Amino acid sequence: MKILQFSMLLPPLVLAALLSFPMEASPHKDFLQCLSLSSNDSTSISNVIYTRNSSSYSSVLESRIRNLRFNSTDTPKPLVIVTPSRTSHFQATIYCARKHGLQIRIRSGGHDYEGLSYVAKVPFVVVDLVNFRSVDVDAENRVAWVQAGAILGEVYYRIAEKSRTLAFAGGIYYTIGVGGYISGGGFGSLFRKYGTAGDNVIDAQFIDVNGRILDRKSMGEDLFWAIRGGGGGSFGIVLAWKLTLVPVPATVTAFTVSRTLEQNATQLILQWQDIAHQLPDEMNPGVSMFSVNSTQDGRKTILASFNSLFLGTIDELLPIMQQRFPELGLSRQDCSEMSWIESILYFNQIQNQPLEILLNRTFRNPVGGQYYKIKSDYVKEPISETALNGLFSRLSDEEASSAIIIFMAYGGIMDRIPEDATPFPHRAGNLYKIYYNVNWPEEENVNAQKYIDWARRVYSYMTPFVSKFPREAYANYRDLDIGSNNVEYTSYAQAKIWGRKYFRNNFNRLVQVKTKIDPENFFKHEQSVPPFLYNVEKEN
Ligand SMILES: Cc1cc2nc3c(=O)[nH]c(=O)nc-3n(C[C@H](O)[C@H](O)[C@H](O)COP(=O)(O)OP(=O)(O)OC[C@H]3O[C@@H](n4cnc5c(N)ncnc54)[C@H](O)[C@@H]3O)c2cc1C
Ligand SMILES: *[C@@H]1O[C@H](CO)[C@@H](O)[C@H](O)[C@H]1NC(C)=O
Ligand SMILES: *[C@@H]1O[C@H](CO)[C@@H](O)[C@H](O)[C@H]1NC(C)=O
Ligand SMILES: *[C@@H]1O[C@H](CO)[C@@H](O)[C@H](O)[C@H]1NC(C)=O
Ligand SMILES: *[C@@H]1O[C@H](CO)[C@@H](O)[C@H](O)[C@H]1NC(C)=O
Ligand SMILES: *[C@@H]1O[C@H](CO)[C@@H](O)[C@H](O)[C@H]1NC(C)=O
Ligand SMILES: *[C@@H]1O[C@H](CO)[C@@H](O)[C@H](O)[C@H]1NC(C)=O
Repeated sequence: MKILQFSMLLPPLVLAALLSFPMEASPHKDFLQCLSLSSNDSTSISNVIYTRNSSSYSSVLESRIRNLRFNSTDTPKPLVIVTPSRTSHFQATIYCARKHGLQIRIRSGGHDYEGLSYVAKVPFVVVDLVNFRSVDVDAENRVAWVQAGAILGEVYYRIAEKSRTLAFAGGIYYTIGVGGYISGGGFGSLFRKYGTAGDNVIDAQFIDVNGRILDRKSMGEDLFWAIRGGGGGSFGIVLAWKLTLVPVPATVTAFTVSRTLEQNATQLILQWQDIAHQLPDEMNPGVSMFSVNSTQDGRKTILASFNSLFLGTIDELLPIMQQRFPELGLSRQDCSEMSWIESILYFNQIQNQPLEILLNRTFRNPVGGQYYKIKSDYVKEPISETALNGLFSRLSDEEASSAIIIFMAYGGIMDRIPEDATPFPHRAGNLYKIYYNVNWPEEENVNAQKYIDWARRVYSYMTPFVSKFPREAYANYRDLDIGSNNVEYTSYAQAKIWGRKYFRNNFNRLVQVKTKIDPENFFKHEQSVPPFLYNVEKEN
C-alpha cells in the first residue's frame, strides 16, 4: 500500500532507487538497531547477539547442527543468531523481527531431521535457547520445571540426583532438546507404560507473537493442547515445561538379542509382529535391522537386533519371555540389570561412562553417521514374509551399507489414550512404527542424493504394507518429502497433505488454534501449521 502511495508522487527512476536500496541492504541492520533500542543496560541484549561478523557466529551456529547434511557452505545461514538469557530478549526479538520482516527459526536441541530450526530460504534470525536450560526438580511432588533449551540428558541427570526411582517419559538420545521433542509428541523407553512426553506435561510457559508470556491458565486449554504434540515452530516459543515425573523400579533390565537371516531372523520378526505389541506395558520392544558381512563366509546378510527395556528384574522378565516369545530364546546372558538412568547409557551403547556424560551436549549419534535422511511409517496389519524379504533385499543395496531400519512396538497405554488427547494421533490400532534411517560418511556427502533416493525407493516399496488414508508419519521424524510441501510458505490445502499424516483428525483443531493465536502466520516454516484460509497470495 505504501509503495502505491509513493509511486503516485515520485518519478519512476527515483522510486526505483528508493526501493532497491532499503529493501535489499537494511532489514538486518534495522533489526539490529531495533534490538539495541529495545533493551537497556540492565538487560543488555548485545551480549547474546551474533552477526556474521561476530567471531563466534560459526561456532554458535554449528554447535547445534545435528545433521551435517545442513552444515554445507551452500546451506542458507541466518543473518543473526540471538541466544536470549532473559524473557525480555525473546520479546525484543519477536517484536523487531516482525517490524523488519525477518522470519525467525526457534532452536532448542537442533535435532530437527530437516534442519528447520536453523535453515530457511528467506532472510531469517535464529533464536537459540541454549541459555534457557535450567532444570528444577521437585522430587517430593514428582514434578519438574524444565526450560525448553535443556537437553533430555540434563533432565534425567537432575532427576537422578534427587531420586533413582523417578524418571521422565522421554527418549534415549540425550542431546535432544526438550523444546522440539515435546512439541512434536516425544516417545522413549517408557512410552508404552506412561505415554508420550506430551502426555506428561501439566503446565508450560509460552511466549506468543505479541510478546505475551502465557501459562496454561492464561493460554487456555486449546493452545495448551496444541503445543504438546502439534509440532515445534508453529504457535510461538515454548520457554519452559512443567513435567510429571513417573515412578520406575530401582532395578530395571535391558536386553539385546541379535540374529542373522541364517539364524532365523525372518521368522522371529514375523512372530515379533504379533507378539511385541501385546507384551507388558513395562517393556518397549524394538527390533533394529541392518546389513552386515557374515562372520562365517563374509557374505552380506541382515542382522536383526531384538531389544527392550523391562521395568523389573531379570528373574521377573525371563518367565514372561519364555511364555510369550520362547522362539527368541532370551537367556540370562542377554540381559543386564541397572537403574533406569543407566539404561539410557545402555541404549546409547556407552554403559561404562559416568552419568555426567548426560550433561555433555556434544552430539554423538548412536544410530549411524552424522549425514542422514529419515522416514517413518505406521503398521496396522502384520506384513508378510515376502514383503519382509523385499525390505531386506533393499537393505542389502550398496547405498544402504550403514542404513538402519527399526520396528518399534506400540500397544500398552498407547492403546488406551484417546487419539485426540493431544495432537499426537498414533494410538490404538498400531502394531508398530517403522523408522528408516539412511546415512553416509562425510566424503560421500557429494553423493547425498544417491542415498536420499534410496530412502525414497524403500518408502515407495513399502506403500502397500503400511497405514493408508492417510499414510501416517511421526511429526518429530520430520520429512519434507511427504505432501507437496516443499515450498517456502505452505497454504492450508498443501499443508493438509502432511498435516493429516502427522496429526490425522487433530489437524483441523491445530489449524483453529493457529488461526486464533497467530493469524498472520509469523511463526512459520516449511511444515508449520497454517492459519485457516491462509495462502501464498496473502503473503505478498
Ligand atoms: C539422533 C536422533 C534421535 C532421535 N530420537 C528420538 C526418539 O527417541 N524419540 C522421539 O520422539 N524423537 C526422536 N528424535 C526426533 C526428535 O524428537 C525431534 O527431532 C525433535 O523435534 C528435536 O527437538 P530439538 O529441540 O532437539 O530440535 P530443534 O531442531 O531445536 O527443534 C525441532 C523443531 O521444534 C521447533 N522448536 C524447538 N524449540 C522450540 C521451542 N522452545 N518452542 C517452539 N518450537 C520449538 C523448531 O523450530 C523445529 O521446528 C530423534 C532425533 C535425532 C536426530
Ligand atoms: C530496564 O529493563 C528492566 C527489565 O525490563 C526494567 O526493570 C528497568 O526499569 C529498565 N531500566 C531502564 C533504565 O529503562
Ligand atoms: C560486517 O563487516 C563489514 C566489513 O567490515 C561491514 O561493512 C558490515 O557493516 C558489518 N556488518 C555488521 C552487521 O556489522
Ligand atoms: C561444519 O562446517 C564448517 C565450515 O565448513 C567446518 O569448519 C566444521 O568443521 C563443520 N562441522 C563438522 C562437525 O564437521
Ligand atoms: C530355525 O527354525 C527352525 C524351525 O522353525 C528350527 O528347526 C531351527 O533350529 C532354527 N535355527 C536356529 C539357528 O535357531
Ligand atoms: C563387507 O564386505 C565388503 C565386500 O567384501 C567390504 O567392502 C566391506 O568393507 C565389508 N564391511 C564391513 C563392515 O566389514
Ligand atoms: C564431551 O564429549 C565429547 C565427545 O565425546 C568429548 O570430546 C568432550 O571432551 C566431552 N566434554 C566434556 C566436558 O566432558
